[in-house]
Amino acid sequence: SVMNQLLGMHQVEKEISQYFGIKRCIVVAGNSDNQEKVLYEFGDILTDSLDLILPEGENIIAVMGGTTMAMTAEHMGSLETEKRHNLFVPARGGIGEAMTVQANSVSAVMASKTGGHHRALYVPEQLSLETYNSLLQEPSIQEVLTLIEQSNCVVHSIGRALHMAARRKMSDDEMVMLKQNNAVAESFGYFFDEEGEVVYKIPRIGLQLKDVQKIPNVVAIAGGKTKAKAIRAYMKNAPKQTWLITDEAAANEILKGV
Ligand code: G3H
Repeated sequence: SVMNQLLGMHQVEKEISQYFGIKRCIVVAGNSDNQEKVLYEFGDILTDSLDLILPEGENIIAVMGGTTMAMTAEHMGSLETEKRHNLFVPARGGIGEAMTVQANSVSAVMASKTGGHHRALYVPEQLSLETYNSLLQEPSIQEVLTLIEQSNCVVHSIGRALHMAARRKMSDDEMVMLKQNNAVAESFGYFFDEEGEVVYKIPRIGLQLKDVQKIPNVVAIAGGKTKAKAIRAYMKNAPKQTWLITDEAAANEILKGV
């Protein structure tokens, strides 16, 4: 029955949040590997989750990029109230994604769908260290970096390590290094092995992993059977305040190994 299915899903959510020691897990029916509607539902659930966790006042929400984040953003709804205002910023500088799935684009879409505001971080990717360092002195860039530092919420996805490295056109040397270190997951420019240990980090400005630990509201969104291994690896050491929004296909695969 539908009731049994719902109870089953709640049980799975509880098992997953307990297994990872995280605050909450929400599981959407289906498999986002081949069902777009699951990604749309992530948008609804992210909206509802943020509506619950974001306090009144001025919130700064740092967001990452990727296709999951981009699709989720498109399906968000209003989050603005008389007492609560939200500013979306990209969590980190560009890490080699196509324009439409970059954190800058995702934060702009989330702001427009939720009725909030956004600020972009314009830092080109292929720069000499010298140019990069002088760019960081620019007041307009400093201003956005300060906002990122002040964020009280972060929303990000999780990807498969080698898949993400290839998509971001990382060098052959980097690919070899990732393989040698058994990297299986990637999130906000960090690569993780199966135990959830960081094995590599793309050197970019913005939020660092240690900052995320201290942010009170953290939401990770990732689904699909193909991502189960990556999700499990990343979630092992994820900040305890994390809410994981995932799907049935990933959840069942994650629990298989438990
Ligand atoms: O960091 C993880 C990636 O942003 C995930 O990308 O949503 O396109 O799989 P994806």
